[in-house]
Amino acid sequence: MAFNFFGRKQEKAPAAPDETPEEVTEDSEVDADDEEGIPEHVGDEDAILGDWRSRAAAVIPGGASTGSKRPAALYGEAGEPGAAHYLRASGCSLFTAAEQDLIDCTMALGSVSLGYGDDGVTRAVVNAIAQGPVSGLSHVLEVEIAERLCDVIPCAERVRFLKTGAEGVSAALRIARAATGRKHVVACGYFGWHDWANEGPGILPEARAYVTRVPFNDEAALDAAIARAGSDLAAILLEPVVEALPSPTWIAKAKATCEAKGAVLIFDEMKTGFRLALGGYQQYAGVSPDLAVFGKAMANGFPVSAVVGRSGVMDAAATTWISSTSASEAGSLAAVGAVLDRYTADDEDVCATLWRVGAQMRQSMEQAIAASQAPGVTVHGVDPMWFLRFEDPVFESRFLRRAVELGVLFKRGAYNYAAVPHDSDEVLLEVERVASSAFVSVLEEMGE
Ligand SMILES: Cc1ncc(COP(=O)(O)O)c(C=O)c1O
Repeated sequence: MAFNFFGRKQEKAPAAPDETPEEVTEDSEVDADDEEGIPEHVGDEDAILGDWRSRAAAVIPGGASTGSKRPAALYGEAGEPGAAHYLRASGCSLFTAAEQDLIDCTMALGSVSLGYGDDGVTRAVVNAIAQGPVSGLSHVLEVEIAERLCDVIPCAERVRFLKTGAEGVSAALRIARAATGRKHVVACGYFGWHDWANEGPGILPEARAYVTRVPFNDEAALDAAIARAGSDLAAILLEPVVEALPSPTWIAKAKATCEAKGAVLIFDEMKTGFRLALGGYQQYAGVSPDLAVFGKAMANGFPVSAVVGRSGVMDAAATTWISSTSASEAGSLAAVGAVLDRYTADDEDVCATLWRVGAQMRQSMEQAIAASQAPGVTVHGVDPMWFLRFEDPVFESRFLRRAVELGVLFKRGAYNYAAVPHDSDEVLLEVERVASSAFVSVLEEMGE
């Protein structure tokens, strides 16, 4: 259920506590369920959404501070003019800047599993903030939440908090190098925007000098990279799920190598934590790393990450400088506490719901693809985090735009995430109906 400041239960996104922006007018309201399945006032919507996009482009380089929320990332380079800004979000719905309700299948890049504006999480955060989320001392919640994470994450005996996933993974690498006194890292996955994990303008190649990337599930490449690192291997850093579960032998090789060479096995559980299982892939598969990084769903959208791991490695964090002014801000830690309450409640199994609902969403998409005979579209991933792959990028862009017009936001080129509020026949049927209609409509438009 969504939190509500005004004491009344709201099915849709709650009314904003502040005034409606000037650009949003009464007559821009749309009815996504009209007879044709086509929203009214499409022209007005385009103007409103386009205005927010151009204002964003004028002051925010790239149009958005989060890369995946740039218009080009949402709809493709072709410049399809779909919604890029929202006013309110509740459950799995969001309310766009043009006042259109969308079912969101992206769940804020997987950072929300209980639903937007979840009542318990919001109350916990509001309470913590009202009591002063920061001071010259550490809040007791830092200790309490660290203890609770040690109770539920298999490898966790120590915890350090930071704000973002990129920070968390960078800290894990620093700790691994400090603990081993070695340089080389073998890595597979996406780890955020920091220099050592990227290439491009502004990034010195030297920043990646001791990081060897290997393809997912490729044992020969893993062997070769390990051999190249020789006795200077500090860590093997893996995102354990990349489009699919890893082969058990690939993971076992990484673990055995780290054990044999005294290197550190690190799992980046930003997406898999609080999703495949509460304790992430390591709990789901029964393979425990030395260090792991959690975030995203851990705080249901609030900004906090955690580096966790065995004491023998984690204690090296105290020998190097890893610190951030807001790392232990209590509002986000209170969110983690409320999330843990839900995930550990006796009467609910959140991860089981995410697997079940994700499987239903995937099935809905398969049915929509089959019913509309959409060519070159396939469904991938694992049930709680699945994605659509399109052979034709133009078809993909037009489909995404059309689906948004009809009321559903799908993620382009990355995961859609199942969330608890998707667990409703009405939502699942609507996702399938919109996907089918969007496929058919775009196929007609493209003359196929
Ligand atoms: C596996 C993984 N690691 C790290 C990150 C980076 O996290 P953040 O964007 O919070 O810095 C992400 C973000 O998507 C991620 O999926």
